[in-house]
Amino acid sequence: MTIGSKPRRGLEATRNGGMIHGDAQGDAQMAQTETEKDGAKVAKRILVADDDESIRSLLATLLSAEGYEISEVKSGQEVLRAVPQVDPDLLVLDLRLPDMDGIEILRRLRGQEQNVAVLMLTAFGTASTAIEATKLGAQDYLSKPFEIDDVLLRVNRVFELQSLASEVRKLRHQLDARDLSERMIGNTRKMQEIYKTIGMIAQSDANVLVTGETGAGKEVVADTIHFHSNYRQGPLVKVNLTALPETLVESELFGHEKGSFTNAIAQRKGRFEMAHKGTIFLDEIGDMTLSTQRKLLRVLQDKQFERVGGSVPVKVDCRIIAATNKNLKEEVDAGRFREDLYYRLNVVTIFVPPLRERKDDIPRLVEHFLTKFRYTPKSPPARIAEEAMQTLISYDWPGNVRQLEHTVERAVIMARGGVITSQHLRLDDTEELSFVDINQRLQRGESLPQVVADVEQKMLGRALERNGGNRHAASRLLGIDIATLEQKLSEHGMGAKSRTEDVDGEQ
Ligand SMILES: Nc1ncnc2c1ncn2[C@@H]1O[C@H](COP(=O)(O)OP(=O)(O)OP(=O)(O)O)[C@@H](O)[C@H]1O
Ligand SMILES: [Mg+2]
Repeated sequence: MTIGSKPRRGLEATRNGGMIHGDAQGDAQMAQTETEKDGAKVAKRILVADDDESIRSLLATLLSAEGYEISEVKSGQEVLRAVPQVDPDLLVLDLRLPDMDGIEILRRLRGQEQNVAVLMLTAFGTASTAIEATKLGAQDYLSKPFEIDDVLLRVNRVFELQSLASEVRKLRHQLDARDLSERMIGNTRKMQEIYKTIGMIAQSDANVLVTGETGAGKEVVADTIHFHSNYRQGPLVKVNLTALPETLVESELFGHEKGSFTNAIAQRKGRFEMAHKGTIFLDEIGDMTLSTQRKLLRVLQDKQFERVGGSVPVKVDCRIIAATNKNLKEEVDAGRFREDLYYRLNVVTIFVPPLRERKDDIPRLVEHFLTKFRYTPKSPPARIAEEAMQTLISYDWPGNVRQLEHTVERAVIMARGGVITSQHLRLDDTEELSFVDINQRLQRGESLPQVVADVEQKMLGRALERNGGNRHAASRLLGIDIATLEQKLSEHGMGAKSRTEDVDGEQ
């Protein structure tokens, strides 16, 4: 039967006669009508939005007979209100509602970060609306008039695609996990200790504090914990607290309600909400203000918080991993870090030792980076001369593994795919900054500010170089904040405005 041309009522027995209802497929489809919410199996919810009463009730009867839970609305405003409330698994949306067209509704839903699956109903199946609708994330569309079987087929297909997508996500996570356990290199006793700790805490939900110098591998540890934990199927959300302007930190972490401040044009989910059932990695936790610290403490205690400008408590369940290269205990003693928060975060601490204290790992790391960085995509891994390896082993690596990685990457290019020797390694030439040199320049008549400026410029250049151009890491290495670094760089004419950096972290 055809729906939507002329209002025709009654379900008739169409669904049993349709070709897609063979036995085997029938079973498969029933399995798709349930979904897992908070561990319990519940019927999938479908929100039907059409101003035509007959279509609405037909779809409702049809789909609830299939085992879906149906809600109905008849205007665009109602859709926008109902979606967050009903939280449907699928929205069947008429393209032409009296108050708003479907494309506009889709656009607004996306603006509210409502990622509900959408099946568009349209009487005007033109390519452009179809394209527009799919661009805005509609999974499929149906032109009126349509066949009942076609409705069922498409609804079921949306759900099949959804479960396929989540299967793919799971698989990808598992692959990532395998990649990652191979990505954390190191076999020294100190690294073995870290693996043991990770193994011990992986199955718990204890908060973890990861400490260590810049470039030592704190983020790698956080990744590894996540992918070995009970939360590995969930997201791993990273927030770099220094990368964010102070005013945005809380909205980034906790989200905000529409209109809570000038730029808050729509409600927005914070990182904590995104990390639900997963892991949140709070990088550079030592840089948080006391007011943000207070809010964070509440999340740790009550597993809930309010969005900025909101009053409804939002519940989250996620594992928290925090990292810092500051000595947090000292920050506590100096009154810059809350003691109660410190003890909450610090249920388990993993200290990642600097590379100079685990030099036996250097050859393995070098091999790893030689495999990672090829001269051309088709080149075999470059080889390294024994004397060059010795140079790498005897160097002290103030920028730790990151600096080693960067040095190897550059050496591969310098050696043009051939054997790497010491001449391809650029490690710091400390001579250049020696006190003798500075003295000589002063004696030659240069002024102190001139020499100091020159030294500063060199240090800035090196810090950036050691950190592969990463300004946040460079500022930490220099012990200054990012704003000071930016200011100094521009004073020295070194570099354009800050490049945009992903708040997810730095590579
Ligand atoms: N054990 C390791 N095996 C392989 N690669 C590593 C290891 N440790 C660190 N790296 C690599 O070194 C770089 C720096 O590591 P990471 O970002 O984890 O350092 P970090 O301690 O978080 O530094 P920062 O304090 O500057 O943020 C990354 O590219 C990472 O992949
Ligand atoms: Mg880091």
